[in-house]
Amino acid sequence: MIEFKDVHKWYGDYHALRGISATIRAGEFFSLLGPSGCGKTTLLRTIAGFEGISEGVVLIDGKDATDIPPNKRPTNMVFQSYAIFPHLTVAQNVGFGLRKQRLAKADLDARVAEALEMVGLKGYGARAAHALSGGQRQRVALARALILKPKVLLLDEPLSALDKKMREQMQVELIKLQRQVGITFILVTHDQEEALVMSDRIAVMFEGEIAQLSDAETLYRRPNSRRVADFIGTMNFLPAEVISETAGSIEVEAQGFGRIHVDPKQAASEAPGKSASIGFRPETLTILHEGQQATDREVGAVIEEVVYYGDMTYYDVKIDGTQKMVRLSMRNVFGRPVLDRGARTRIAWSPGALVLFR
Ligand SMILES: Nc1ncnc2c1ncn2[C@@H]1O[C@H](COP(=O)(O)OP(=O)(O)O)[C@@H](O)[C@H]1O
Ligand SMILES: [Mg+2]
Repeated sequence: MIEFKDVHKWYGDYHALRGISATIRAGEFFSLLGPSGCGKTTLLRTIAGFEGISEGVVLIDGKDATDIPPNKRPTNMVFQSYAIFPHLTVAQNVGFGLRKQRLAKADLDARVAEALEMVGLKGYGARAAHALSGGQRQRVALARALILKPKVLLLDEPLSALDKKMREQMQVELIKLQRQVGITFILVTHDQEEALVMSDRIAVMFEGEIAQLSDAETLYRRPNSRRVADFIGTMNFLPAEVISETAGSIEVEAQGFGRIHVDPKQAASEAPGKSASIGFRPETLTILHEGQQATDREVGAVIEEVVYYGDMTYYDVKIDGTQKMVRLSMRNVFGRPVLDRGARTRIAWSPGALVLFR
């Protein structure tokens, strides 16, 4: 649906997009994820046509979009600030983009009603827009974009102004809406959880470049650099050294784990000169409770800190033979006590859960 070919954007002498190449498929929920200032909005605006590019090509539906003005593109954008007209009714806001089409009143009303129903605002047409809650305003903004039946909906941090509960609810509704209308959604967000929850695929951006583009699970389980790993959730790192390497296996001496074999699929390449490390997510190691059978892949550890969350407990532990604390998370199961600070424990691990960064 959208293809970027080596896209660069300069603002004066600031290099905002540094060679973006990527393809966004028709009908997918695609997210641009990265810290503030990395170029997400700029890239989104190049799709909408609000921003010219300095080098490269943006293709929309296979056509070079360079000379296509924004209003002729099959795209529509929902902005970070919803830009609702407070003095108009909900229906007038939603129908705003259709005013030039001179539809018969009955047709316009039907289109507005259809769009309002899509976003869960059936029957709200006559309300004054200024009297709506934040979540309702966001729905109006969505309806206003959807009524134009774009092939691609561009969403620039659409949920960032909502409180946590409302945001989570809208995330689920956006996913459902996207499935229902079947059009391509491109979401900009700096919230990694939001991107993981909602997207078919995610492009992680840093400083005008795409660092990794993959589905949520791959991004989480096999980040291709420490930087991506750090940005997506929590990852622990312990120093490691590569001993030998064959096509099918990498032999590593890892602090705390000893001599281990890592599947090359679980290896990420780092910038040259950086020392190697083993990374693992908090939930991938298991604290063995007393009496639980020993496995051949277990290490001793001391619990240094306990943070109880009700359904989960986070443990900061020091694995024997290491200096650095690592964080583990355990689901709290009925009948199994939460461990105390200072307790000695055993931890089971599996080689599949370890990622090598080298
Ligand atoms: N119109 C502009 N003129 C100059 N610099 C800009 C302009 N728009 C954005 N930038 C700069 O480009 C970089 C990327 O901006 P932006 O795409 O808005 O980032 P993000 O949406 O990821 O937070 C930022 O450093 C920003 O200051
Ligand atoms: Mg932005």
